[in-house]
Amino acid sequence: MAKKTINDFTQMVEKGEKIVYLTAYDYLTAKMQEKAGVDMILVGDSLGMVSLGYDTTFPVTMDDMVRHCQAVRRGAPNTFIVGDMPYMSYQKSDEEAVANAGRLVKEALVDCIKLEGGGEMIASRVRAIQQAGILVMGHIGLTPQFMGQIGGYKAQGRSAAAAMKIVDQARVIEEAGAFSILVEGVPPAVGKAITEKAGIPILGIGAGSYTHGQLLIYADMVGMYDNFTPKFVKKYANVGEVLVKAFEEYTREVRQGQFPIDTEHAYKMNDEEVKEFLT
Ligand code: KIV
Ligand code: NA
Repeated sequence: MAKKTINDFTQMVEKGEKIVYLTAYDYLTAKMQEKAGVDMILVGDSLGMVSLGYDTTFPVTMDDMVRHCQAVRRGAPNTFIVGDMPYMSYQKSDEEAVANAGRLVKEALVDCIKLEGGGEMIASRVRAIQQAGILVMGHIGLTPQFMGQIGGYKAQGRSAAAAMKIVDQARVIEEAGAFSILVEGVPPAVGKAITEKAGIPILGIGAGSYTHGQLLIYADMVGMYDNFTPKFVKKYANVGEVLVKAFEEYTREVRQGQFPIDTEHAYKMNDEEVKEFLT
């Protein structure tokens, strides 16, 4: 299948077809997701937690993002890829935001970048990056790079006032020229209100069933990341268990001399060569 473009996503929204979105951080996973036919892949800065073992996304660097976006691009050459902007890669100035967004496009060939926040400063960054010809996805609601201010990894917009504020952030980011917005960690009523008001594709993660598309962190939905599982995750497999079982079995067989078996798992050498070699 050909890689989807902004026009395909607009059409999908018009026809009421859901946009399927998953994170990936490496070549192998991206390859399997392209094979499965997902519409969009996010190389999220959740990379920091899922693949690099940090407790938060804060330590993730532009170099980390470029390297992993490149790997995902190689695994999924025909899938629309969104590259996440890590903490402090866009906060300082419009100029620096454009330069760093440009790196993800130029060095990793992503199709779109994503950045967090819904205030005036972020709107200015969205405008600047968009004017450089790059598609921008906004990200509002539960925004991990604002962890300190929102008091941890907690659902947002649960009071009427807070919900209204998030709906307004969506308007600000859309007006700044975002191509799409990801809404994270809000009740379904908030996801629904944003989706109904918007003129662009609204994607949700933990934002209910009304958004134009759904995102999950792949390591959560296949049962690989067990440090913490948010309420909105559905587990489609227990890959973590499968892997640990395989590693345990291998460990046991090597220790007991059951692996390898030379008639099955070894290179052949004809008997005459062996004889000559040994004499
Ligand atoms: O980094 C990421 O994977 C994300 C999603 C959790 C929304 O931004
Ligand atoms: Na992120």
